[in-house]
Amino acid sequence: MVAPLQGLTEAVWRNVHHRHFGDGQGEVEYFTPFIRVDRDEVRARDLRDFTSELNEGMMLTPQIIFRDMEEWKRLVEMLIANGAKRIDMNMGCPFPPQVKKGRGAGMIMHPDAVGRIAEEMANYPEVQFSVKMRLGVVDPSEALALVDILNAMPLRHVTIHPRTAKQQYKGEFHLKEMAELSSCIKHPVIFNGEISSPSDIEALSAKYDGVMVGRGLLARPSLFAEYRAGKEWSVEEREEAFLGLIEGTYKLLENSLCGSTQIRDKMKPYWEYAPNSLDRKIVKFGKKNGYIWS
Ligand SMILES: Cc1cc2nc3c(=O)[nH]c(=O)nc-3n(C[C@H](O)[C@H](O)[C@H](O)COP(=O)(O)O)c2cc1C
Repeated sequence: MVAPLQGLTEAVWRNVHHRHFGDGQGEVEYFTPFIRVDRDEVRARDLRDFTSELNEGMMLTPQIIFRDMEEWKRLVEMLIANGAKRIDMNMGCPFPPQVKKGRGAGMIMHPDAVGRIAEEMANYPEVQFSVKMRLGVVDPSEALALVDILNAMPLRHVTIHPRTAKQQYKGEFHLKEMAELSSCIKHPVIFNGEISSPSDIEALSAKYDGVMVGRGLLARPSLFAEYRAGKEWSVEEREEAFLGLIEGTYKLLENSLCGSTQIRDKMKPYWEYAPNSLDRKIVKFGKKNGYIWS
């Protein structure tokens, strides 16, 4: 599964990744970055990322972030109206302004709100829901308080990142708490965090029901293809794969964004994930200009 990354794994990137590295059988599942309500409206821009024709042919699940049952319901109904059959619920975003408002990882601290959503879910039997979460906001055992509610929900799976919101995306994993939480959850559990090689996928697939990869796939877009083939690609092949994805993304952005400054700004974050082996001069040029060819 491909993790949602705001500003990165959006429709253009997904389209190119799917064409270059998809398995053709829809086994790689992509998740949209979270779709949210802003000033009482579902953000049109977020929704377009889900309805874009660039998503054609891939297995795509939209993700929502919400603060309470009312926001949840509004997002769910809008997505159903736009054809969603599966919806992922973000209960892990560590961004402090969202957490403070009770969204993302903030949901973990509001079991009442989660309980109301669990009840409301019964009204949408046509949708398969899933949850993506962390172990807690400050303490890695906080999410245990949600186990009964999560188990009462009809979920496809629960994806867990073994850190707290306070840790954001760095620092030690809390593997003891991760094991405890996963053993209490009756749904399939998907592991998410710092997966960067086919052997990581192999080891974690033996312990969990699946894996979700974010940053590791930006650095090594061929990761799932290598795992499927049971053979690691050479460093050169992986560098080529990275640059091919950059080039494809840049070219597709040229069709949808107008100015070259806009495209360059959009491309910059991808270069942050360039493989360490890649010539630093190329990376420096890429970070400055967004592309490397002329
Ligand atoms: C820039 C950035 C944007 C992210 N956006 C989202 C998001 O929209 N929804 C979500 O559930 N997680 C989001 N995440 C978290 C990732 O999906 C993932 O859980 C995290 O990066 C850990 O996995 P990884 O080590 O494989 O990258 C984001 C992470 C980063 C770094």
